[in-house]
Amino acid sequence: MFEARVYQTRRQALKQKLGSGVALFPGNKEAPINYPANTYYFRQDSSFLYFFGLDSPNLYGLIDIDEDKEIIFGDDLSLEDIIWMGHQPRLQDKAKKVGIKEVRPLKDLEPTIKNFIAQGRKVHYLPPYRPETVLELAQLLEKPAEEIKAGASKDLIKATVALRSVKEEIEIKEIEAALNITREMYLIAMKMARPGKTEWELVGAMEGIALSHGCRLAFPTILTINGQILHNHDHSNRLIKGKLLVIDAGVESTEHYAADITRTIPVGWKFSQKQREIYEIVLKAQETALKAIKPGIPYKEVHLQTCQVMASGLKELGLMKGDIVEAVEQGAHALFFPHGLGHMLGLDVHDMEGLGEDYVGYNDTVKRSQQFGLGYLRLAKTLEAGFVLTVEPGIYFIPPLIAKWKKEKKHSQFINYSKVMEYIDFGGIRIEDDVLVTKDGPRVLGKKIPKKVEEIESLKA
Ligand code: GLY
Ligand code: MN
Repeated sequence: MFEARVYQTRRQALKQKLGSGVALFPGNKEAPINYPANTYYFRQDSSFLYFFGLDSPNLYGLIDIDEDKEIIFGDDLSLEDIIWMGHQPRLQDKAKKVGIKEVRPLKDLEPTIKNFIAQGRKVHYLPPYRPETVLELAQLLEKPAEEIKAGASKDLIKATVALRSVKEEIEIKEIEAALNITREMYLIAMKMARPGKTEWELVGAMEGIALSHGCRLAFPTILTINGQILHNHDHSNRLIKGKLLVIDAGVESTEHYAADITRTIPVGWKFSQKQREIYEIVLKAQETALKAIKPGIPYKEVHLQTCQVMASGLKELGLMKGDIVEAVEQGAHALFFPHGLGHMLGLDVHDMEGLGEDYVGYNDTVKRSQQFGLGYLRLAKTLEAGFVLTVEPGIYFIPPLIAKWKKEKKHSQFINYSKVMEYIDFGGIRIEDDVLVTKDGPRVLGKKIPKKVEEIESLKA
């Protein structure tokens, strides 16, 4: 955990933003795999970590703004727990490390909250994403479980998003630590990418690196020779010469900050001409986006600039045609690039998505588009110094999507379907890096991971 003053400062800022009421933060619990004592590895709730820093299950954090009190509700281990799990510092001592003096047993939580409700005080909470948290909040707040998600506090969501969006220097260091381990994972996997290896072998080698640093993955690795499937978690294929391999992976640092990187390389490290041509378009699009990032620019604008670059490149290859500005306006390029340019990154890989993507990526002036492709953009609003975000353009040839659009003759003034059919088995290419917005412009975080065609082809040696 960070020093106590980090959490104290964050809680203080939250109190100022909220102004009044009580903010209740349920920490996560152990989640059973197949019977209660056999659990998935424990992952604390990110907002709980942000404000309270305590990385163990069965805790509640409470901030009483009106009374200026901060309390952790939780229990010390029983002798039975200690026999199986070993000694743990006392909760009182752990709480002190994050600047909290008051610790109360869990049994006190329910009467405390019921008392607030009886007094007519507002109890703010964030939208829960685990069913047991929904049920617990329903019990505590005396509300039907179905009303709990919708009853989350918009004020608390907005205040939390405002704070967590602007990264502190210590948070950037954590993201860079995660990125540097992620780089090691990539260097291993890229070197292994020869015909005959299986996807699982590469996935296993990558995860082994993460574990050897005492880290876990920030999300399940995407590693596939079928990169046209955007979030493909199947790893059952053998690598075949001539195929492209998409690897989208990242670890979370020991303090749980995520990295999110994507590289695409040809199996056997030699691009075919067709592969190189498309790869260079995606790379140029990514470099254009990286340069455009600065405080004050809406990320939607950067996304659309990237679409222009890719659509122009596709026109040069004869895959698109007509007026490219108009084509992008109408969304024709989304046949090849059906997702958004990127998202915020932090304690979650899609940072704060659980609080509601529209609170994180949109606001009163920038509303989500209904257009296919653009509608998937997770971050559209104006960038500010301190934001950390991903830049991840891609070009994909998705057979079912192509078949549908071709049959409907969709955007046929902009898409050369007969040429597209020559690429039907191409797969996909995505390139992703993580960037800090600073007042002086973009700072690509982490040490470099091979990305240029020559760098990738030289891995063969
Ligand atoms: N790394 C997966 C994603 O950004 O959706
Ligand atoms: Mn990403």
